[in-house]
Amino acid sequence: MTRSIGIDSIALAVPEGFLDLRDLAAARNVDPAKYTEGLAVDEMAVAARHEDTVALAARAAQRALVRGDVDRARIGLCVVGTETAVDHSKPVAAWLHRLLELPDACRTFETKHACFGGTAGVLAAVDWIASGSARGRAALVVCSDIARYPLGSAGEPTQGAGAVALVIREDPRLVALEPGVTGSFSRDVDDIWRPLWSRDALVDGHVSVTCYLDALAGAHASWREACRELSVKDEPVARRCYHVPYGKMARKAHAKLCALEGIHDVDGTFAREVASSLRLPRRVGNVYTGSLWLSLASMLETDASDVEGRRISLFSYGSGCTSELFCGRVVQGAARHVASLAISEPLAHRRRLTFAEYENIRRADGDIDATADASGGAAGALAFLGVERGRRVYG
Ligand code: CAA
Repeated sequence: MTRSIGIDSIALAVPEGFLDLRDLAAARNVDPAKYTEGLAVDEMAVAARHEDTVALAARAAQRALVRGDVDRARIGLCVVGTETAVDHSKPVAAWLHRLLELPDACRTFETKHACFGGTAGVLAAVDWIASGSARGRAALVVCSDIARYPLGSAGEPTQGAGAVALVIREDPRLVALEPGVTGSFSRDVDDIWRPLWSRDALVDGHVSVTCYLDALAGAHASWREACRELSVKDEPVARRCYHVPYGKMARKAHAKLCALEGIHDVDGTFAREVASSLRLPRRVGNVYTGSLWLSLASMLETDASDVEGRRISLFSYGSGCTSELFCGRVVQGAARHVASLAISEPLAHRRRLTFAEYENIRRADGDIDATADASGGAAGALAFLGVERGRRVYG
C-alpha cells in the first residue's frame, strides 16, 4: 500500500517586538480602519538586528523538532526557503545544520522564488520522500523572512517577519498531501522585486494584486487538468488556505476561486473555510515564504478537531511570478497533536514597540552585515551576534 506523505510537525518563530498598526496609522496620518479593515491586519512583527533570517529559522526549527518530538538523527534533508538571504553563496540551511546538530548525512540547500520559496522546499521534500531517496528519513523545511518596504510607502503596513518550520515525512500526524496532484502557473512579471543593492522590496502594489489573482486562475486550471489526468475524485474542500500578504488579499483570492468554481456564496464560504486561517497572519503581518504555512498553522490551531479526515486546499504565490495550488487531508488525531505543539505560544512573549522604536530599528541597519557588533538578544533565544573576520556569528 502507498503510504501517505505530508506535514508531521509545524512551529513558528516571531521577533520579540511588534508594531500595532493603529500606531503606524497615527504616525502616517492615515485612518486606522484602512489598515485594520481595508487590509485586514492589526499588528506587524518587527525584527531587531539580532533576529535575522538564520536566527528566526533556527528558533522555529528547534521548536518544530522539540515540540513535535521528532528524532533529529532521522532528518535527511534540510531546506530553507527565503527571500531574505544573508549571503550570496552560503545557504541559511548550512548554519541551521550546525545550530540544530543535524546528521552529517543530510542534504542541505536554500530555495528562492519570492514567497514561493518555502513551498518549493515542501514540494521538493514530498518528492524526495515519494521517490524513495529518503529511505524512511524525514525532511525539515524552514521558511524564514523579514518583509520590508520603504518607510512611508503604501507597502509599509504589509510588512512582517518570522519563520515557519515544517517536518515532512511518511505517515504524518497533521496533514497528508497529495503528491503529484498540483497545478502550477508561472510568468515573468515585475510586481515585487528586491535588487541586490536594496534591503527593502520594490513594488508595483496594485499590479501585484492582479498578478496574484491571474496566477491563482492559472494554477487552478492547471490543478483541474492534473486531477482529470490522474482521475482524482472531486471531493469537497473543508478549508482553504491562501498565501496571505495581508488578510484582504486572501478575501480577494477566495472571491476569485469561488468564481472559478461556480460557488455563489462568497461571504458564507469565506467565514467557514478561510477566516480561521487569517487569525495569526493578522497579528504577524507578511512573512513571505512562510505566509501560506502560517495560514495553515492558524487554521489547524483553530479548527483541527472540526476538519480531521477532511480535505483542505493550499495556494502559494511568489512574485515574479510562480504559484501552485494543491490539496491535502487533515489526519485523524491531528487536533491532539496540534494541542501539544502550542503553535501560537511564541506570540505571547512579544512586546509592543513604540513608533519611535520601530523607526530606530529600521534606520539603524546601515552596514549591519559587514560590522562586528555582538549585541545579542533575549536571554536563551538563538541570536545573530555580529560579524567577525567576515563571518556571521550565532549563539
Ligand atoms: N476604511 C476602510 N477601508 C479602507 C479605508 C478606510 N478608511 N481606506 C481604504 N480602504 C480600503 C480600500 O478600499 C482598499 O480595499 P479594496 O482592496 O477591497 O478595494 C484597501 O483598503 C486598500 O486601500 P488602497 O488600495 O487604497 O491601498 P494602497 O494603494 O495604499 O495599498 C497595496 C495597497 C497596494 C496592497 C499596498 O499595501 C502594497 O503595495 N502592499 C505590498 C504588495 C502586496 O502585498 N501585494 C499583494 C499581492 S503580491 C504577493 O502576495 C506577494 C507578497 O507576499 C508581497
